[in-house]
Amino acid sequence: MNHQKKVEEAEASVNKMREKVSGSPWKPAYHMSPPSFWMNDPNGFSYYKGEYHLFYQHHPFSPEWGPMYWGHFKSKDLAHWEEAPIALAPNEEYDRDGCFSGSAIEKDGKLYLMYTGNQWTGPDHDTDLYQTQCLAVSEDGMTFEKISENPVIDPAPEGDIHPYHFRDPKVWKKGDHYYCVLGSRTKDDVGQVLLYRSEDLIKWEFINVAAKGEGNFGFMWECPDLFEMDGRTILVMSPQGMEPEGNLYQNLHQAGYVVGALDYESGKLQHGDFEMLDYGFDFYAPQTMADPTGRRIMIAWMNMWESQMPEQDENFAGAMTIPRELILENGKLKSKPVPELEKRRRNHKHFKNVTVEGETSLPGIEGNAVELKVTIDAKKASQFGLKLRAGHKEETELLYIKEERSVALDRSLAGKGPGGVRKAEVELDENLLKLNIFIDHSSVEIFINGGEKAMTARIYPQKDSSQIRFFCDDSIELLQVDKWDL
Ligand code: FRU
Repeated sequence: MNHQKKVEEAEASVNKMREKVSGSPWKPAYHMSPPSFWMNDPNGFSYYKGEYHLFYQHHPFSPEWGPMYWGHFKSKDLAHWEEAPIALAPNEEYDRDGCFSGSAIEKDGKLYLMYTGNQWTGPDHDTDLYQTQCLAVSEDGMTFEKISENPVIDPAPEGDIHPYHFRDPKVWKKGDHYYCVLGSRTKDDVGQVLLYRSEDLIKWEFINVAAKGEGNFGFMWECPDLFEMDGRTILVMSPQGMEPEGNLYQNLHQAGYVVGALDYESGKLQHGDFEMLDYGFDFYAPQTMADPTGRRIMIAWMNMWESQMPEQDENFAGAMTIPRELILENGKLKSKPVPELEKRRRNHKHFKNVTVEGETSLPGIEGNAVELKVTIDAKKASQFGLKLRAGHKEETELLYIKEERSVALDRSLAGKGPGGVRKAEVELDENLLKLNIFIDHSSVEIFINGGEKAMTARIYPQKDSSQIRFFCDDSIELLQVDKWDL
């Protein structure tokens, strides 16, 4: 079927359900989420003709994953996003079963989307698939046309490279060349990343397996992203199937990075250990972009595969994290909410030097779509923290455990949906814990000690479970509490 017709059919389907979804108590207020039906990975995060663009994996016919389209949002400031028409629909033989994840790049004034064309070749989605890399182009950043040379990378290279699991191109330019990395696995299921080079985005030359897992590093690396920062090369990727190690790798799949140096000639990346980008429950397939001022900004899918998603009963599924700026400090990435989000702040409430013994709340410090900044002096308390979205015997607990030097995020009593605890190691600095928390109707994102660690979770409480409480086992001092509605 004609591409435009398929897009219109999908739009009509999404529109039919849109109003119902907008009335859901779990529909995010300031996070990107689909107007209706299914969303996964961020795709094509870019800046083009004065606007940020974020595309996403979209199934516009049900709140379940299905043949993938690319949904589309755009923004002038990273804080307010507006919906744009669906950008890609699977209408060609090479992408007949889905336009899978990919990225975007500007060339000669046009915006190119590079994505994976997916074909099922039998009933088993793990073995019966064929994937190629394709391009679509736009002159206005709104309507896209697939190019006649598609697919531009086909087949997967020879060697110890799985011939079919071959996807998620992330493209960038360096010097006179374009490069892309692709998610891959070896023939015996070890995650790896492939590096390609091109002069024109159309003809691609395979350079090398840039990096490959050793030890507990998963059977497939999805959604790779490679960029330079402060003279180092950073490879971000989403390894499937790493085994839990203590507090680490507790989710079904992981998202993290390694820091190293890429030799563009040999195509080999020398790198250090894998680090996680977020220690919560719901964070996958992050994608980054360099904005016009050179900042590196990251957005991830705020869900996890095979996790229960109660919002599906409300005819949608999936949301994106807030945009986070990445900063390299002492060889590790910090992630911080972009300051543009401050533009959304309304209704400021401020407290300082409040002593807490037992449990307390503060007048006006509550809500379902808020930003919270808190600095806590731990004093002699050995355990202390916050309860978010509390009420109706529901609460999402954030607990500092001094003995363990860790922050625990506990959503066992959060409401509907999956429970569980996730922990991140955090050292107090001068006995202080600094938190920047973003609550939106079905999510919490927690940035600890200036973005040293982040923890993200989807939660599904009742609408009027909106209290925020502070508690401790001895006494603590809230040096500063700021709250804004967003
Ligand atoms: C990651 C992923 C990608 C793939 C896409 C399909 O979440 O599995 O590897 O391109 O989702 O929707």
